[in-house]
Formats: sequence, C-alpha cells, structure tokens
Amino acid sequence: AENMLWGGRFTQGLDPIMEQYNSSLPYDRLFYAQDIAGSIAFARANHNNGILTKDEFAAIEKGLQQVKQEWAENRFEIKANDEDIHTANERRLSEIVGKEIGGKLHTGRSRNEQIATDMRLWLREELRQIEGWLVQLVKTAVQRSEAEIDVLMPGYTHLQKAQPVRWSHWLLSHATAFSFELERLREVIKRVNKSPLGCGALAGNPFKIDRAAMAKELGFDGLLYNSMNAVADRDFVFETMQWGSSFMMKVSRWAEDLIIYSSLEFGFVRLADAYSTGSSLMPQKKNADSLELLRGKSGRAFGHMAGLFATIKGLPTTYNKDLQESVEPLIDHIKTLGDSIQIATGVLSTLTISPEKMRAALAPEMLATEFADYLVRKGVPFREGHHISGRVVALAEDNGVPMDKLSLEQLKGIDSRLGDDVVECLDYERAVELKDATGGCSKSAVREQIHILKQTLG
Ligand code: ARG
Repeated sequence: AENMLWGGRFTQGLDPIMEQYNSSLPYDRLFYAQDIAGSIAFARANHNNGILTKDEFAAIEKGLQQVKQEWAENRFEIKANDEDIHTANERRLSEIVGKEIGGKLHTGRSRNEQIATDMRLWLREELRQIEGWLVQLVKTAVQRSEAEIDVLMPGYTHLQKAQPVRWSHWLLSHATAFSFELERLREVIKRVNKSPLGCGALAGNPFKIDRAAMAKELGFDGLLYNSMNAVADRDFVFETMQWGSSFMMKVSRWAEDLIIYSSLEFGFVRLADAYSTGSSLMPQKKNADSLELLRGKSGRAFGHMAGLFATIKGLPTTYNKDLQESVEPLIDHIKTLGDSIQIATGVLSTLTISPEKMRAALAPEMLATEFADYLVRKGVPFREGHHISGRVVALAEDNGVPMDKLSLEQLKGIDSRLGDDVVECLDYERAVELKDATGGCSKSAVREQIHILKQTLG
C-alpha cells in the first residue's frame, strides 16, 4: 500500500480482483488530455495564490505536457497501481519532476472534483461535435425537401392510406422533430459546461483558489456554486442521456418509416449500397441494416439512461464510488449518438426515391375527404358532407371499382348537391395545394417550414 496515492493509512495491498474491479483507467484514460488541462489550470491557480513557486509551477506544467505527449503517442506506461487517469497522471508527473514537486500538485484538490471536471470537459467537446452533425442531418432533409418538392406520396395514419401529401412534407416532419432535439441539445451543452473545479472532495477549497480564473482557462461558461452538489451531481450525464434517448426515439421512428418505404411492397425509396447489406443465403436480398441498427441502438441508448437512474437513486450525498459507473455508459451513449446521427445523414443523402411508385400508391379513396370539403364549400354541414362522401366510398366498394370510376350520374344519385364540378375533387395536386394554412403540405406551406428550419439551423 506504500506506493498507492492514498496509501498512508493502509498496511495491505488490494486483492487482485478488487484491484481490477476498482480500476477505471481502461476507460477514463480517454480523458487524459482533459485531466492534464485541469491539472495545469489547478497548478496555475495554486501558483497565483502562493502554494507553488514560479519554478515549481513551471516544472509541473512542463512535466504534465510531457505526460500528455506520452499518452498522445501511445507510449504512456501504465503501472500496477494506476487506479484511474488522475492517479496515473500524478504518478507519472512525480517520476518526471520528482516527488518533492509532484507531491504538491494535489494541494487542496480531490479526485472527486477532477473526475467531474474531466467528464464535463470531454462531454462538452463531444456534444459540440454532435451538434454539428445534427445540423448536417437537418440540412440534408431540408435540401432534399427543396429539390423534391413536386413529389407527392400517400400520407398515413395507423399505417393506412390517409391523405396525399408532399414527400417534402414527410421529410420535414422528421426534420422538424430533429430540430427540436437540436434546440434541446444546445440547452444541455450550456449546463454541461459549468465548472466543478475548486470544490475539493466535498467541502470546498481552503487555499483561496481562484475558481473563476480556472474556469476561464478551461473554457467553462460559469461555475457550480455548491461544492457538495458539484461532486455529487451527475445531472450533466442524465441530461445528456435523456436528450440522446429522445433523439434516438425519433430517429428510430424515422428509420422505421424508411424500412417500410424501402420494402418491395412500397418501393418509395431505395437505399444506397453503402448503407445496405445482403443475405448470405438469399441472393436477391438487400436489407436496410443501417436503419434497423438505428432502431436497435435506440434500445441501447434508453438502457444506459435507465441504468444510470437506478445507479444514482438512493445514493447518500455526496461522492460515492457508484458514480464511477456513470462513466462507461456515458462514453458508450455518446458513441452511439454520434455514429447514429452520421449514419442517418448518410442514408438520407444517398437514398434514391421513386416518385412513380409514390404516385402509383395514391388511391382515389384518399380523396374522400375532398368530397366532404367540396360539400362544405356548398354550404353543407361537414358532418353531413362526411356522411355523403362515405356513401360514395361505399358505392365504389359495392361496385368493385375505385372511387374515381363512378359516373357523374351515380354520384348525383347519392346527393344532388354533388354537381358537375365535383370531378375536380379527384385531383391529388389540388388536394395537396388546398392544405395551404401554415403547417400544411401545399407548396407555400412547405416553403414556410423550410424557411423556419433554416432559421433554427442558423
Ligand atoms: N475514478 C473515480 C471516478 O470515476 C474518480 C474519483 C475517485 N474518488 C474517490 N474518492 N475514490 O469516479
């Protein structure tokens, strides 16, 4: 126990399985650069308040840069008692600058504030990158919706043909959902980027450390104002996972739509080879694995979120080692999110559409509502119009013909207010263009959506 960082009161070493069980270095080494940046900021602040001399600080800074270099070049040598990234870095620093100086780095500091600092710094950068990818996804949908604005397709409720819409309207329905996630993400980043550094193990720092200066050096956007909260809090992890789960839920629904639309039965879209796979047995198959994985990985994202809630619920304040169990799920969650957003963008930007198949899937029955609306325009109450239109549908069904094959006489036989001009109801373009109130699927309403999304993208 002599050479453990905290070995002073211990007489025996760790049980080997316990050592491995306790160690977080295999994954928190990912934060080596953040840990070193935090240590340099901390040492600088401890120099400014007189704990470290100018030369000691200079030696520590230089030593830490060397440690960082070793990690970056993959030649950092991990030793038996390197429990986590904090102890590993400090152990190595002391080897480089000597224990006399190295032993002063941790003055007034705790690993509890260090891990919270490292995770926040790392997460901030990851989320900023993810924000950029999410912007790309929404942009891709917006670009397609502009280029393919003339294409009509069936709109569905209950997965039953409902009313004709523009393909662009479908694209933008999901782009809108994604843009809400973009707004949420921007809020999350603000709260992730607060500094716990200078809060100590739980009670605060006794050496008049300048927390604001450290926060500024590390690019934090403000401080956490209660030291107990600062080391106990994993809101920034929760919020990220709640956000990520919400995004995955949405992208999963989007993927499900495209899985259906890419089936041979629908044939509305075709995935690029780059995002599909074949079958080892059935030569004709082209499977939408990218989309199925988006759907599947959403479950994994939700799982990490639920797991973290279970881990933290019931913990006494403040730091408990259970909190270490928030690290791996977070790393995995972020990887899942970053990959998923890029895959979704790749799928969307490379798929091809079949406007003919979409058009062919439109059925005259999807215009039944137009008959009711037609009668409304002639002064008939909507309920009555709905009923009359229902009889039109029933008559077509009885005669075994599509609705647009009924004669004008047959229509007039149902209700005399169905005049000569009723045939105009059988025009899909017209049905779509009539939905021109804000939020609808007419060309002008779709363009308005595009305009609003572009504003969100900034
Ligand atoms: N590896 C630890 C974690 O991830 C760092 C904090 C350890 N603190 C402690 N008091 N043992 O949470």
